[in-house]
Amino acid sequence: MEHLRQKPFPKDFLWGASSSAYQCEGAWDEDGKGPSVQDVAPVMPGTTDWKVTSDHYHRFREDIALMAEMGFTEYRFSIAWPRIIPDGDGEINARGVAHYHEVIDECQKYGIQPVVTLYHFDLPDALQKKYGGWSSRQCIDDFVRYCEVCFKEYGSKVKYFLTINEQNMMTMFNMGGYATDKERYQANHHMLVAQAKAMIRCHELCQAWIAPAPNITCVYPATSSPADSLAAMDYDQIRNRLYLDVAVFGRYPEALTVYFTQRDCMPEFAPGDEEALLNAHPDFIAFNYYGGSTVRFVSNEDGLAAKERAKQAGRANMEEFMTGMMTEPGLAVGCKNPLQEQTSYGMGIDPVGLRVTLRQLWERYGLPLLITENGCGVKDTLNEDGTVHDDYRIDYLRRHIAACREAITDGVDLMGYSPWSAFDLVSTHQGISKRYGMIYVNRDEFDLKDLARIRKDSFYWYQKVIKSNGEDLA
Ligand code: BG6
Repeated sequence: MEHLRQKPFPKDFLWGASSSAYQCEGAWDEDGKGPSVQDVAPVMPGTTDWKVTSDHYHRFREDIALMAEMGFTEYRFSIAWPRIIPDGDGEINARGVAHYHEVIDECQKYGIQPVVTLYHFDLPDALQKKYGGWSSRQCIDDFVRYCEVCFKEYGSKVKYFLTINEQNMMTMFNMGGYATDKERYQANHHMLVAQAKAMIRCHELCQAWIAPAPNITCVYPATSSPADSLAAMDYDQIRNRLYLDVAVFGRYPEALTVYFTQRDCMPEFAPGDEEALLNAHPDFIAFNYYGGSTVRFVSNEDGLAAKERAKQAGRANMEEFMTGMMTEPGLAVGCKNPLQEQTSYGMGIDPVGLRVTLRQLWERYGLPLLITENGCGVKDTLNEDGTVHDDYRIDYLRRHIAACREAITDGVDLMGYSPWSAFDLVSTHQGISKRYGMIYVNRDEFDLKDLARIRKDSFYWYQKVIKSNGEDLA
């Protein structure tokens, strides 16, 4: 609907931006840190490794000062589990613990709320080697123990914790490399139980709020055919609701359990799992949003054949991963949506979809919402005079912030907007040339240069937006 008047952003709206440890810290083996599964994974050809990235580990003071200059009231970052417990389940590393105290204190010096992700893709590699990571139930206990360390250390200073970043992307794109769907969804179940137990422990040990942080999007049917509408509903279950229904209501989505059971991949519940899922309650929902998904129905036979063809052609699911497309036989297949704009990297630009997503989440779960990622990752040019004119990024952010305001006017309880990212960092698969930041980090893919921080045009624009509490988007 078109509103004749807009509600203002709430006075205490959180304005900031996000990062994740392995993509920005560097110092991959310093001060006692153990390797994560990211550190040891093969690097995508033509892209940098994770050894230095943006060197935030050494430059966090300068970075946070720049965030303060922009007027941030929030900074979302992740704690690297292998910095706190280098081998995942053994000794606590005092230097790692101290580092995040310093980061949190630095934020608080400027009145910036730290929003702390406990786990952002960087499982300690020792646990992967020891028992296959999340495929083992042991990982539940080790994750909960690590979270308890964080709650005890930081829980009196941190108001907002996030459990697991984009668990749904890890599962959908099989980042654990599981051989069968049965194993993949069993590992996913272990993460859901670990998350539930961590939420319970958070509430027992500190006053902080805690939330899951999946990647959520509305799902459009490719055509107005009833079969495609049903496919969109089903895809919503496997992409979004599998994660949020379990986190909020403690139960798997109904039709999806039938789909899993018939395909022999319904996870096995151990004694106590159901109880943990039912007893855990998030205080809000954090979610990452990068554009809508569009699907059409695909039969079981056609879906399996398509998957087999892709396998024969040797295509990894990277293509699906980067464009958000995937095939679920008998359920849905992702399609290109000619009506949705895209970045030069093929990622969606869909501010209306953000409003739809916010509305759907609010209507379904009734919990306050926090956008923890959204952003425009493209190549930037550093001009000779030291400027970066990223008007495309300003345009992207402007339209998404306007969509947030529409959703607030619709009645959604939106706590804040934390786009990806404050400063340039290394993309999950496409190097540092795919830049998201409002602060330019002066390095190339392989030439580290001086890693200087340079304010882009979007820096000054976002500063103005925050100063006006979202009124001035010009
Ligand atoms: C999200 C992740 O999927 O999207 C981030 O939580 C990631 O870690 C971001 O960097 C942008 O994706 P990419 O692949 O361009 O880095």
